Amino acid sequence: MELVDGKVAVITGSGRGIGQATAKLFAAEGAIVVVNDLDAGPANETVDMIKAAGGEALAVPGSVTEPGFPEKLLAEAVARYGRLDILVNCAGYTWDGVIHRMSDEQWQAMLDIHATAPFRLIRAAAPYMRDVAKQEIAQGKVNYRKIVNVSSVSGAYGNAGQINYAAGKAALIGITKTVAAEWGRFNINCNAVALGMIETRLTQPKEQAKPVQIGEREVTLGVPQMMLQAVSMLVPMGRPGKPEEAAGAILFLASPLANYVNGHILVVDGGMYRAGV
Ligand SMILES: NC(=O)c1ccc[n+]([C@@H]2O[C@H](COP(=O)([O-])OP(=O)(O)OC[C@H]3O[C@@H](n4cnc5c(N)ncnc54)[C@H](O)[C@@H]3O)[C@@H](O)[C@H]2O)c1
Repeated sequence: MELVDGKVAVITGSGRGIGQATAKLFAAEGAIVVVNDLDAGPANETVDMIKAAGGEALAVPGSVTEPGFPEKLLAEAVARYGRLDILVNCAGYTWDGVIHRMSDEQWQAMLDIHATAPFRLIRAAAPYMRDVAKQEIAQGKVNYRKIVNVSSVSGAYGNAGQINYAAGKAALIGITKTVAAEWGRFNINCNAVALGMIETRLTQPKEQAKPVQIGEREVTLGVPQMMLQAVSMLVPMGRPGKPEEAAGAILFLASPLANYVNGHILVVDGGMYRAGV
């Protein structure tokens, strides 16, 4: 049995990294994937990879932080495939800085991408998830739908140099638990993964990183080499995770295996933090 066979899944930020690995894994497990990314090129590449492997996917490029875009993205998915079963909020980036040097713009950008955008996407999903489920339940039907939010150990435990990112990812944990409380009775499970260090462009050695364009701003992504070495020593598994390993945890939460898991924060960090959230 394929784990998400025939399910329609919207995955934001799936042109690269963890989102792309998730899109490919979902497609391999039978899902129809709507690939969103800020950058059209990478979004189309993910779709091409899925189609080359025999799957079905549609690219809907655009910024999830743009007002009105979350509604447009989900409407396009439903116009094309008729319904929405799974939403994965994965789009994101970092814009690090120490507290005393952090600008208001830096602070706000992280709240916009990691808290406001997922909130707007979940609100925009209400007609397709909550309202449809309500009608089905009145007819005696039971269908499970899933929302998976991609948070971080920074949000769960804090991290030096990331007060803005930590606040955004902690907000996403609050959002996850609140959606779980409101929509659980409609068989909509809302959970999050709190990821540790996963090898993507966000965790490249910062000293060698070139600035990238995120919408209108230039940001240098990456983690200082000293911190990368420290993490590998602190992680019991002795290495960072791979995007595919993060995707596996997201798939679990989006699958029927997690039908009674709701409002949970699944820490995926190779054992670095061994406390509950
Ligand atoms: N890599 C890690 O160690 C790590 C750890 C914890 C959490 N995360 C989270 O995982 C998610 C994916 O990150 P990644 O490491 O795969 O990085 P990545 O840069 O490889 O992929 C993120 C994708 O999101 C897209 N994106 C950024 N802003 C967007 C917007 N406004 N609208 C649409 N798409 C947008 C980017 O274009 C990019 O393709 C992020 O939310 C990140 O915060 C990553």
